[in-house]
Amino acid sequence: MVVNNTQSVADRYREFSEQQARAVSPVYAELTARISEDPDFCALVAALPPGNKQQPNLLLAAVRYLGGPYERWAPFRDWTLTHWDAVRAVMLARFTQTNEPARCATLLPLLAALPQPLALIEVGASAGLCLHPDRYAYRYDDGPVLGDAPVTFDCRTEGHAPLPTALPDIAWRAGIDLNPLDPTDADDVRWLQSLIWPGRTERPRQQL
Ligand SMILES: C[S@@+](CC[C@H](N)C(=O)[O-])C[C@H]1O[C@@H](n2cnc3c(N)ncnc32)[C@H](O)[C@@H]1O
Repeated sequence: MVVNNTQSVADRYREFSEQQARAVSPVYAELTARISEDPDFCALVAALPPGNKQQPNLLLAAVRYLGGPYERWAPFRDWTLTHWDAVRAVMLARFTQTNEPARCATLLPLLAALPQPLALIEVGASAGLCLHPDRYAYRYDDGPVLGDAPVTFDCRTEGHAPLPTALPDIAWRAGIDLNPLDPTDADDVRWLQSLIWPGRTERPRQQL
C-alpha cells in the first residue's frame, strides 16, 4: 500500500538522520529529518523502486550532482520537488559508490607487514581509489608523516596497533566492480564528489 510505503520511507529517513547523519553531518541530519516529516516528499521517494533506489544518500547526492541547493531545508525542498524528474532519473541511473581512500590507513599496517612486493585485488573498488595505498601519506597518532603525497591521512590508534614504518611495494593491482567508475571521466568525478557528505571533511576529495 502506498500509505505503508510512504511510512516506511519516513521511518528510513528519520533513522538515517538520527543514527547515521547526526554525529557527522548536521546538514544531512536536518534535511533527512525534515523529509521524514513531509508526506508529499516521502510519497515521491516511495514511488521509486524499493531498496537501494530509495536510499537517503542517493537522493542527497543526486540533488547535489544536479547543482541543487542543500544547505537549508526550504530551498532544498522547493528545488528538489520542482526538479523531481531530473533527480529521479539520476537516482535510477546512479548508485551510492562512495570511494573512501582514508580506509587505506587501517589497511596499511597489515599490507606493510606482508612479504613484499604485493599484488592487490579489490572487489567493489568503485573508482579504485583504495587500490593505491602506496600513493597517499599517513600520520599515525602524533608520529612522523609516512610517505610523500598531496593527501595525508591522519589516523588515531587504540591499543597496540603494529604501525608501519614503510609504504607497501605494490607490483600489480586490479579492481572489480559491478559498475566501475572512471576517475578520468568528469561526470563520474562529479558523482564521487556529490557522494561526500557535507561535514565529512575527512573523506578526501579526489585529487585526480
Ligand atoms: C561503497 S562502494 C566502496 C568502494 C571502495 N571499496 C571503498 O571502500 O572506498 C561499494 C562498491 O561495491 C560495488 N559492488 C557492490 N556489490 C558488488 C558485487 N557483487 N560485485 C562487485 N562489486 C560490487 C559497488 O558497485 C560499489 O562501487
